[in-house]
Amino acid sequence: MRELHESWRHHGDHVALVPTMGNLHAGHLSLVDLARQHAERVVVTVFVNPTQFGEDEDFDDYPRTLKRDTQRLKKLEADVLFTPDVATVYPFGIDKATVVSVPGLTRNFCGASRPGHFDGVTTVVARLFALVQPDVAVFGQKDYQQQLVIRHMTADLSLPIRVITAPTMREADGLAMSSRNQYLSESERAIAPQLHASLEKICKELQNGKRDFDQLENDAWAGLEAAGFVPDYVAIRRAENLEPPDRDCDEIVVLAAAHLGKARLIDNIVITI
Ligand code: PAF
Repeated sequence: MRELHESWRHHGDHVALVPTMGNLHAGHLSLVDLARQHAERVVVTVFVNPTQFGEDEDFDDYPRTLKRDTQRLKKLEADVLFTPDVATVYPFGIDKATVVSVPGLTRNFCGASRPGHFDGVTTVVARLFALVQPDVAVFGQKDYQQQLVIRHMTADLSLPIRVITAPTMREADGLAMSSRNQYLSESERAIAPQLHASLEKICKELQNGKRDFDQLENDAWAGLEAAGFVPDYVAIRRAENLEPPDRDCDEIVVLAAAHLGKARLIDNIVITI
C-alpha cells in the first residue's frame, strides 16, 4: 500500500479512501463514485473491525462477501481494494492497541446504546488513515454521528485529510441502504421504511413551524412502537454538534435508531428550518 502510494504521489496523484466493512451495496458504490470525483486514485478498504462490535453484537454474523465485493469494485475501477488482516491493523493485538477516543460527541445516541463502539470506529479509522495516508476520505451520511465523530477526530489530530460526507442511498420505498437490512424477515422488511417515513413526518412538522421538539420526538417514538419497532432513540438536534437546538437554530438533523427483529436500523435527515 505504501509503495503504491509513493508512486502515485510521485506522479502528483491525490488519493481518496473509502473505508468499509464490505458486503458492498449501492450505497458503498456511490461513495466510491464520489471519491473518484475528488482524487485521481481511489482506495477501498474492507475490514470487519472487531473493536467496534459489542460482545452481544453481530461481529460473527456480519456478512462477509469479499469475492462479490471484489467483482463489484472491478466494475467501478477502484485502484486498490485493501483488505488488511487483524494483525496488520492491530500489530500488538487488540488488547494492547492504542485507542483513539473522541469524548463528548460520542456520549449520546449510538454511543450510549453501543458502549465502546465509537472508540472502535475512531481507532480503526485513525489506523486506516495512517496506513493509506489519503488526501480525502469518504463516509456515508447514514451514520450521521459517526461522520461527525470522524470529522472531529481528524480536525483534533490535525490530520491533513478532507472528510467528505456522501448522501444516504435509499431503496425505492425510502429505506436507507445497509448491510444489516438483510437481517430483516419479509414482514419486517415491509415495515422497515416507516423509520424513514417517521423522520420525514417530523421534518414536515418542523418546516410547518412546529417547534415542540419533545412532542415531535415522542409522537414519532409512539408511532414506531405501534408499527412494531423497539425504538432506541428519536432526536431532533443541531446538525453541527448534536446538541439540543434552540428555536432559532437553522441546521437541524432528525435522527433515529430502532430495533426491528434482529436488525438495528438507523437513519437521519438534515434540514434547514
Ligand atoms: O461505517 C462503517 O462501515 C465502519 O464503521 C467503518 C467507518 C468502515 C469503520 O470500520
